[in-house]
This record gives sequence, structure tokens and C-alpha cells, in this order.
Amino acid sequence: MTNGSKRQWWQDGVVYQIYPRSFQDSNGDGVGDLPGIESRLDHLLALGVDAVWISPFYPSPMADFGYDVADYCGVDPIFGTIADFDSLIAAVHAHGLKLILDFVPNHTSDRHPWFLESCTSRDNPKRDWYLWRDAKPDGGYPNNWMSNFGGPGWTWDETTGQFYYHSFLRQQPDLNWHNPEVRNAIYAAMRFWLDKGVDGFRMDVLWLLIKDAAFRDNLPNPEWTPGASSFWSVLPTYTADQPETRQIVREMRQILDAYAERVLIGEIYLPLPELVRYYGDSLDGAQMPFNFHLIQTEWAAGPIAALIHEYEALLPPGAWPNWVIGNHDQPRIASRIGPAEARVAAMLLLTLRGTPTIYYGEEIGMTNGNIAPDQVQDPAEKNQPGISMGRDPERTPMLWDNSPHAGFTAGAPWLPVNPAYERASVAAQAAQERSMLALYRRLIALRRSHPALHAGELLDVRAKRGVLSYSRALGSERFQILLNLTTELQTANCGHGHIVLTTIMDGEGARVGGPIAIEASEGLLIALD
Ligand code: GLC
Repeated sequence: MTNGSKRQWWQDGVVYQIYPRSFQDSNGDGVGDLPGIESRLDHLLALGVDAVWISPFYPSPMADFGYDVADYCGVDPIFGTIADFDSLIAAVHAHGLKLILDFVPNHTSDRHPWFLESCTSRDNPKRDWYLWRDAKPDGGYPNNWMSNFGGPGWTWDETTGQFYYHSFLRQQPDLNWHNPEVRNAIYAAMRFWLDKGVDGFRMDVLWLLIKDAAFRDNLPNPEWTPGASSFWSVLPTYTADQPETRQIVREMRQILDAYAERVLIGEIYLPLPELVRYYGDSLDGAQMPFNFHLIQTEWAAGPIAALIHEYEALLPPGAWPNWVIGNHDQPRIASRIGPAEARVAAMLLLTLRGTPTIYYGEEIGMTNGNIAPDQVQDPAEKNQPGISMGRDPERTPMLWDNSPHAGFTAGAPWLPVNPAYERASVAAQAAQERSMLALYRRLIALRRSHPALHAGELLDVRAKRGVLSYSRALGSERFQILLNLTTELQTANCGHGHIVLTTIMDGEGARVGGPIAIEASEGLLIALD
């Protein structure tokens, strides 16, 4: 915070994302659940994170594994019961952690009672809760809006003779956010969980929430080539980032602000200039519009330094940054950049200015799972085979120990457990002094204990000969971070001080100053004198 106001827990803390299907199964059905999460809180405590964000566990037909919600105020039996939720939140809070829920306001399941009602007739009171349109005179789609998961975004309803729009699967009809009743129904569901004590929400596809009221055609995308996802054949001109969206984000924020110390996080895939607008004109929007740009930027010192500069420069005064290197929709960082660079990524994520979010398994260097064609679960992959690699690889079960299925389940896991887990598991890594897990624990502990690292200024961001360097400073405390993002030994200049931590986890305590050799894919954290 630069404006001197009181710091909030979500600024100083580290967020940890759990994909509940894949974290810990407690009843042997092969799918993770809420009691499973509760039984693993000791791992989160030992890791040192502050808040847990859980991907959706609401009642759902699971067409999109819970991102198709059939009841905003319940728990799907596969994940447990409301009593299990109450027990989980009590345990989370008893350990001094915070709980953030995933909330899916853009669309419901096609099995949600609202949609079932909306489908009954054209004059049903809930008809206008969704986006219904007539066919074109020739019977064609109402316009050229596409689905993010491939194909046209419109599905025909025989009974009422109209199309409805869905940004994702046909089983995920989009709500009509122009309708005030819809807004109020969603806000009531948010209050249901806030009253239960949840500490915030991660809002799903926040930038897609509202669509053009006139249903104008999206503009053609001159860069699209056949073979790429059909979604990109047009630009999302009238289906994404509409000006009215930010008013809704403000309304959501007001709901949260009626409670103490809650956080609104937005899933927003937009270029930085558009992304930062979601903080709101007077910081009355999302406190943390997710910044996914480390995932999208080339893994090299120059582009990453440029990204940090651009982001910091664009942040409105007083806005708090955040950084992400993976989630349940993105290939795992350790597969994207390799195991050694994944350690450098950990140091980057945990020493940058801004709240880091860790995706489960990153702390043990989990890689993409190999999913055979007959094991594919992801509907996005099934809809457009071969076009994207699908999202199953980053959703494979957490690797806990060397018991069968890595300790994830006593049954048959819903996705295959990555092989070689005996060496990669939490239990194995906890016993290894220089493991990825040891590195994550140390980085998080350092971040927590040094105000310069969680609250300090970010200074001197530069890239030279493949080395990314920057400093963090608060009061008399000052650290320099040097990250070699190349596969060769590099020499860089550092200030006078001593090494606190290296990603290789050796040489700590050594005095440094002036030219310093940095191993290939090594990161150094130096305490300056
Ligand atoms: C978000 C979720 C993704 C889901 C989609 C539709 O992008 O992160 O997993 O498929 O929304 O709800």
C-alpha cells in the first residue's frame, strides 16, 4: 500500500488454490472432498500460506466440474455436506487461515432451478434471467457470438423456440446481468456465504459478465486461422469487458464491504491497461484483479522485466498488485519452463511486490500429467479434441506420500496419479533438505518475517544478460533478488551483503558484493548491508 492506510491480510499473505476434486479424497470415491481438505490443513500450515481458495464445490451436474452451478448455497454430495463446510471453515479459522470461495456469477448449470423455470415458457418470470433470442429469419443463430469451449455460443430450445447464449458449454447458460433480479439473487447467494464467515470470493470470468444489450455481432478476427479454436474466429468485442461490467464489480464490492476485511478477487484475462481498470476508479472495484501475465509472458529476463515495469506503472495509486504462475486452467509451470526454472519462478513469485497465489502442487514442483485419450475428462478438450491440450494435465491428484495413489485416495482416482510420486510427494520432499517443498517453505517464511519482502517497495527492476534483478526495501531493510533465467552461467553485479537463500539452496550466508557468478537457472536472495 502506498497511501499509508492499514494493511490488509490479503496484501501481506500468500493465497493457496485448491482444486477440490484433486486435493484429498476422504471416502474412497476417487474424487477429493471437503473433509479431505480439512484433513490436510497441516500441510498448509507447514507451508506457511495464509489463505485458501477452493474451486467450486456447489451442487452441480459436473459438466464443467463444478463451474456449472445448480445451487449457489449448497455443497455437492461428491464434496460433502454443508456440515462438512461448516467444520472446514471453523478449522481453517481456528488455524488462523482465511477461506476464499470460488463464485461463478456469469452462468449457472442448465439444471439450475432458475434455468429450468426460464425454459418453461417465453413469459415465465425467469425468462429474462438468461439470454434468449429468436433465430434469424433463415433459422440461423441470432448473431456470431461463439463459445469459449468451441462452436457457436447459441443453443436451440425446442419447447420455446428460441436460442439461449452460453459463453462456455451448452450446459452453462449465461445469466442476464442487465436484469436487476439476477443481480439481487446472486448478491443474496454471496451474503449466504459471507454470513457463514467466508473471507472473500474469487469471481469466475468477471470480465465476461455482461454482454451487449443490443446483441451486436462481434467483429471478425483477422488473425484467426482455421484449425485454431473457433472461439477466436471473432473478437470478443461485444461479449467481454463491457463498460457496465465495472459497475457490477462495484456492487459486488459493496456487498463484501458490508462485512469486515473481505476480499474480492477477479478472474480476468485482459491486457494490463484494461485489467487495471477493474480496481475501480476510486479503488472501489476488485481488490485483486488476477494478474495472469507471468503465465502469458515469454520466460526470459527482458520480457518479464518489461512486464513488471508496465504493470507497476499502470497500477492506480494505492492499488495492490498480485501475481500468479498457474491455476486449474493453465499448463503447470514446472512443465512449461522446466524443474530448475520452476524454482526460480517460486523465488520470483514470492519476492515480487504483490500477493502471490500458489496453485496446489506447485510447491512440490508438480508437472503436467500424461492423459491418455480414453482418460480425458475436461469438457473443453472433449469439445475440441487436439486444439488445446486440455486442462486435465494440471488437475491430476496431489502427491502426498508413497502409499497407493500417492495417498490421494483409497479408491480409483478420477484422473491418473502422476508416476514417480515416491520421490516427488510431500512426504518425500519434507525429508529432503533441498527439495522444492523446502524451498517454498523457506521463501514463504522469509516473506512473512521480513516486512521488506511482503510490504516493501519494489526498486531497480532490470534485465541484463538473461538475469532479472530487482530490490525490495522497507525502512533500513533491503534485499536484492537476482534470477538467472538462462541455461548458462551468468555474471551479474550485486550490492554488498550476504546470501540469504539460493534456489539451489547452498552458499547461504556467504558475503557478496560486486560481480557475482550465478549458475544456470539459479536465483539468489541477498540481504544488503
Ligand atoms: C473459468 C474457470 C474455468 C471454467 C470457466 C467456465 O475460466 O477458471 O475452469 O471452465 O470459467 O466457468
